[in-house]
Amino acid sequence: MNDSHDDHGADMEQTLRPAVRSRTAERVSDDVTVEQPTVLDLQDLAVYYGAFRAVRGVNMAVRQNEITAMIGPSGCGKSTVLRSLNRMNDLIRGARVEGKVMYHGIDLYDPRVDPVEVRRRIGMVFQKPNPFPKSIYDNIIYGPKIAGAPRSSFDELVETSLRKAALWDEVKDRLKESALGMSGGQQQRLCIARAIATNPDVLLMDEPCSALDPIATGYIEDLMHEIKTEYTIVIVTHNMQQAARVSDRTAFFTAELDSNNDRRTGLLVEYDLTDKIFSNPSDERTENYVTGRFG
Ligand SMILES: Nc1ncnc2c1ncn2[C@@H]1O[C@H](COP(=O)(O)OP(=O)(O)OP(=O)(O)O)[C@@H](O)[C@H]1O
Ligand SMILES: [Mg+2]
Repeated sequence: MNDSHDDHGADMEQTLRPAVRSRTAERVSDDVTVEQPTVLDLQDLAVYYGAFRAVRGVNMAVRQNEITAMIGPSGCGKSTVLRSLNRMNDLIRGARVEGKVMYHGIDLYDPRVDPVEVRRRIGMVFQKPNPFPKSIYDNIIYGPKIAGAPRSSFDELVETSLRKAALWDEVKDRLKESALGMSGGQQQRLCIARAIATNPDVLLMDEPCSALDPIATGYIEDLMHEIKTEYTIVIVTHNMQQAARVSDRTAFFTAELDSNNDRRTGLLVEYDLTDKIFSNPSDERTENYVTGRFG
């Protein structure tokens, strides 16, 4: 966080420490009485690109050690909302957020919050694997090195991160080789390992499997399931089976014509336990989408 030394700044520093991750979360759908603490609380969030309101009306609580899926037709604002959760939209000219994103009770858009620190705590994995044109080893230590981690910690960090990303056994003998020589599925796991190496609290994933074959997809899904005991995961996916398989809660978005200008604005229709969204949704629009009648 920034260097403000007032009490509120100190509070913020305290609160923004990665949450203690002691509990092993069960898939909440199997036990609806489990209520994990809220990590990200989206309050009446709307995101604009210039004058265009891309998405509105987003109210949802992302809970610790759960996997939260965002689904909905193309253009409904899933990536836009996801990027607003670690201030990645700051990097897009004209992008602007209304409403609030509270992270462990701290307003992520408070001017005293440092967006670089936000992105370290809330990591992101993109649709297309994007390893740096460097060695596997150097990809992993990239973030920690910038953050000033001691060189002596690197070997262990590389091994732990790759182990968590279920990649260690496949690459341990070629750590110094270029990451670009790996398969697509391996590259995506490397990107997950790279995100994990900065010790984040939350992982945001925007269609992480859409460029992968079913086997590589299976690896990533298993991996998500394994690491959710340590992280909170938000995933955007077009694959409804994937949302149903991996997530605890699902947010269904759609896009509707805005009466003010004739563009389509995204909105959150329904957010609930994944089992409920897929078996007994409350909103007809959700029902139509999950049964394949729309989109
Ligand atoms: N950088 C940008 N500048 C201007 N408009 C944008 C930008 N990015 C997205 N949009 C617009 O915002 C709306 C939501 O886009 P977004 O990419 O969030 O949708 P999405 O649900 O992720 O779609 P998809 O499933 O195709 O990835 C769309 O109308 C899109 O054209
Ligand atoms: Mg998208």
